[in-house]
Amino acid sequence: MKRIYLVICLVLSGSIAFAQQTNDAAIVPKPALLEKGIGSFTISKHTNIVAKGAEAMKVAGMLNYFFQKKYGFTLGINNGVATGAITLNTLSAEKLPHEGYELNVTNNGIKISGEPGGVFYGVQSLLQLIHVSGNQLSVPAVNIKDQPNLAYRGLMLDVGRHFFEVGEIKKILDVMASLKLNRFHWHLTDDQGWRLEIKKYPKLTTISAWRDSTIIGGYGDFKPFIYDGKRSGGFYTQDQAREIVKYAAERNIEVIPEIEMPGHSTAVLTAYPELGNGTGPYTVPGYWGVHNTIYNPGEPTFKFLEDVLTEVMAIFPGKYIHIGGDEVPKDEWKNSAFAQQVIHDNHLKDENELQSWFIGRIEKFLNKNGRNLIGWDEILEGGLTANATVMSWRGEEGGIQAAQQGHNVIMSPGSNMYVDHAQAKDGKTEPLAIGGFLPLDVVYNYNPLPAVLTPDQQKHISGVQANMWTEYVATNNKLEYMLFPRAIALAEVGWTKPADKDYESFSKNRLPVFLKNLEKSGVNYRIPEADIKISDDTQIGRKKITITPLVADSKVYYTIDGHKADNTTNLYDGSITTPFTNGRPLTLKYIIVTPANRVSNEFSVDLK
Ligand code: ACM
Repeated sequence: MKRIYLVICLVLSGSIAFAQQTNDAAIVPKPALLEKGIGSFTISKHTNIVAKGAEAMKVAGMLNYFFQKKYGFTLGINNGVATGAITLNTLSAEKLPHEGYELNVTNNGIKISGEPGGVFYGVQSLLQLIHVSGNQLSVPAVNIKDQPNLAYRGLMLDVGRHFFEVGEIKKILDVMASLKLNRFHWHLTDDQGWRLEIKKYPKLTTISAWRDSTIIGGYGDFKPFIYDGKRSGGFYTQDQAREIVKYAAERNIEVIPEIEMPGHSTAVLTAYPELGNGTGPYTVPGYWGVHNTIYNPGEPTFKFLEDVLTEVMAIFPGKYIHIGGDEVPKDEWKNSAFAQQVIHDNHLKDENELQSWFIGRIEKFLNKNGRNLIGWDEILEGGLTANATVMSWRGEEGGIQAAQQGHNVIMSPGSNMYVDHAQAKDGKTEPLAIGGFLPLDVVYNYNPLPAVLTPDQQKHISGVQANMWTEYVATNNKLEYMLFPRAIALAEVGWTKPADKDYESFSKNRLPVFLKNLEKSGVNYRIPEADIKISDDTQIGRKKITITPLVADSKVYYTIDGHKADNTTNLYDGSITTPFTNGRPLTLKYIIVTPANRVSNEFSVDLK
């Protein structure tokens, strides 16, 4: 009797554990604690949101924004007590960690509590819990207690290489919010374009924001380069940048502007060549790579940069300003009598120390204005300045060193976080990318807390960030294709404790639902390879293959005869048993067709 009871319990708890992560509670990033209850709550046009106080009211407005986008109507909002309502409670913050929330759904209603950022995230989880069946919206009974593992969960977008309109930035911010990503690092300046209106220096937007031509193909495809002959560029007015800051803040996202120095500045020097090292005249280049043209370390340069940063600080209220600092070839300083004099006068050892001195002056200026400096890990060379935060991109080494020195760090190594790299090993099967190969599981399995750091040093790792460089990303569709699904994996890297992460459950249970909804909301993404399991059926001497697509409700068409798979071939119906092959190798080829009829690349797997 006891034994039978135990077996039933195991079966039940197994199925409950499965149910927690399948379609009816597939929240990304995975919450810290999710218990399923019994029953569900139905949302109708008559359901009210109860929001006490101004902060809760704001979150209620955001709930309606996302709700309207998904379902085409809004809910009433009231300040009083109502039954059968969605209650947003921002008044109990002291009990919960920053950005943490509790979400409780019963047959009678929905309650979300936390500080405003936490309630906003509770709302995002709620939106992911809603099921549509017929014209009914229902939310399964759950009890969630959730909080982020890391404080900084960021995404960088390079708008210097290619410009993206305000509407596209807002679209990305909406998806970031739903993924509980909370830092938008806006890379606003680079050799190939300056993107922010600065009132004191109008030539930055009349000259530096535009290039006459851009190379076609990959950097190594044509030598000499072939140019498209099309003028391109653009910039954000200060009003537009403020609009983005406000839009992001409403979604619990801080915008971190990046103004590159002393390198990546050819576009600026084209307009203001006197800030260079006498190697001009310059033109805004239409080819990629690291450029030699850098600022001179003179007083007019510091005056320019301080003026620019003064306007930048007036637009971006956040604590952090990113000043770049990466990839600064020192040839021009080596060859400049003036730069050598600055080295001499300031008792510096070499050009690396000159860069550190340069960054140090800017840091003092930012600190005086109540801001903190972030730089790429090259700012370690020649000595890290007093309060700098290091963004570690050339692997983790820079981040480890900085954390050991007591500096704050954001981990963003190329090996795991560069979403400009291709999403297939054979880059030729993918749209043009900068190179490299960064598959979804490598993003997902990244742990930003290096084991070589002590627990105290690990506290300096503020978080993690993926970087979207756009040399080879010129359209909105391509931007979204490169970002998703990898930014969805990033969300769990930042939010979910490593012990609770599991690629198998992420990719098979949570990701498919998220992608299906992303598609519904009109966001492009790369349709990932399916999960393929191959086993030998020794009794019959044949193989069994199962194919699980990672977009919910997709269809799969396949061949095993070596020919192309398309919608004229076999429709997968749950499993494949291979024919007798007499030892001859076969290849499975398949395509995935999503609910919105998007078709994946053709994928192949050798059936050894
Ligand atoms: C970088 O990728 N140059 C920071």
